[in-house]
Amino acid sequence: MVNTVNAARAEIGVIGGSGFYSFLDDVTELPVDTPYGAPSDSLFLGTIAGRRIAFLPRHGRGHHLPPHRINYRANLWALRSVGVRQVLGPCAVGGLRAEYGPGTLLVPDQLVDRTQTRAQTYFDGVRLPDGGVPNVVHISLADPYCPVGRGAALKAARGRDWEPVDGGTLVVIEGPRFSTRAESRWYAAQGWSVVGMTGHPEAALARELELCYTSLNLVTDLDAGAETGEGVSHDEVLRVFAANVDRLRDVLFDAVAGLPEGGADRECLCARALGGADPGIRLP
Ligand code: ADE
Repeated sequence: MVNTVNAARAEIGVIGGSGFYSFLDDVTELPVDTPYGAPSDSLFLGTIAGRRIAFLPRHGRGHHLPPHRINYRANLWALRSVGVRQVLGPCAVGGLRAEYGPGTLLVPDQLVDRTQTRAQTYFDGVRLPDGGVPNVVHISLADPYCPVGRGAALKAARGRDWEPVDGGTLVVIEGPRFSTRAESRWYAAQGWSVVGMTGHPEAALARELELCYTSLNLVTDLDAGAETGEGVSHDEVLRVFAANVDRLRDVLFDAVAGLPEGGADRECLCARALGGADPGIRLP
């Protein structure tokens, strides 16, 4: 139950695995519904380093939602509805280059969408339950990640002696299967750095809601084209993620502490992504 107005507000959102929210101070569970349906789970609101954060388990508690079944629109909408304006999105990825082996932390600056079935816009002309109809809006995603958030993530990793890869391209596949060797080699030949299943449409939807979004990629395996063995297994991904979850959590917490305060007055362009265009619907 939420007792006070403040307990139900947050400024920073973290969308990630369930290993994180048990470390928040004074956690409040807040079920949220949205015009786009239910998010992956309740929001878990708490405090880190004096900052109010809302944590959302991307795959739901117990990890029951595969990447293509996640309601990304509801997730970002729910976060914004409690006041969140900056989002950190850690996720597991496969490395596409031999030097990006398990345990590498990469903070991408580019994104390639290879997904197939996911709703990736709020502006699709479909009437919302409150009667609003979204206008046609085209946001720029030339630089999909917030430069300020990226800086905070990189600084936090270095502060924990975990030298991150600064920049690179995350290619997001539909999943839930891993890539064939030919697909993987093709991604690498394009110059892309890592491959994952959840980084899109999170970044695009965040931009449509004028949220700052930063992706943190933990490499859990070398993808099929970069390794010589059997190919990636889910067990391997889980094992390497578990082995790194404590230091990833430390980096996230330090990144949260390093994010600037600010709402509509944020300096980055994310805060003005709609360029004053009328969205036709009331953003939460
Ligand atoms: N998540 C973790 N490892 C991955 C891989 N190799 N491909 C896609 N998603 C992943």
